[in-house]
Amino acid sequence: MEIVELTDKDVEQYLNLLNAEDSVKDLLSRLGFPLSKQEYYEKIKSFSTWIKAYVAKQGEEVVGAITFTGAENLDMKDACIITDVSVRKDHRNRGLGTALVRTVLDFARNQGIRKVVTIVSEMNVPALEMFHKVGFKPYRVLKDYYIQGENAVALEYELV
Ligand SMILES: CC(C)(COP(=O)(O)OP(=O)(O)OC[C@H]1O[C@@H](n2cnc3c(N)ncnc32)[C@H](O)[C@@H]1OP(=O)(O)O)[C@@H](O)C(=O)NCCC(=O)NCCS
Repeated sequence: MEIVELTDKDVEQYLNLLNAEDSVKDLLSRLGFPLSKQEYYEKIKSFSTWIKAYVAKQGEEVVGAITFTGAENLDMKDACIITDVSVRKDHRNRGLGTALVRTVLDFARNQGIRKVVTIVSEMNVPALEMFHKVGFKPYRVLKDYYIQGENAVALEYELV
């Protein structure tokens, strides 16, 4: 298993992985997904801050992915936001989600970023447990954050 930065070669599989996930479908459809590879690149180029993704690969197969962006446009200069982390169902519970999150923490540390934040549904026990184990701390409940009426929890990890 290797974790590498997302490149053109893996975008199709990366998008398929994200689109297979109920928890991110709603968000992606609000962003206009599913998108073709070309549309995806145009979309991310139009973001007002940087966006980056890593994929976990077993051979040529993408079995996990994590996406994160800068937070400058939220007036958080030294922070970045994990917008999604997904592991294919048949590869869960083997530490892959944790390894993807740690890859982002390492990247952030190297860039001098001081805080990594993320937002998770309060119903999403696997994700809450994973982020808790890595060391993320809840700092705010966002009421009725999702269309279905669920609350979300904002979590943060301080790098310094
Ligand atoms: C959340 C997700 C990425 C976790 O990936 P994963 O590779 O299975 O996670 P890990 O194996 O690294 O698990 C780390 C810890 O999280 C907890 N955990 C993972 N799955 C769990 C589950 N189903 N129930 C309870 N705790 C769970 C465990 O404490 C685990 O530690 P352990 O292995 O020592 O028991 C994965 O479940 C997933 O893709 N879910 C769908 C997408 C999603 O909801 N993403 C998050 C919001 S963007």
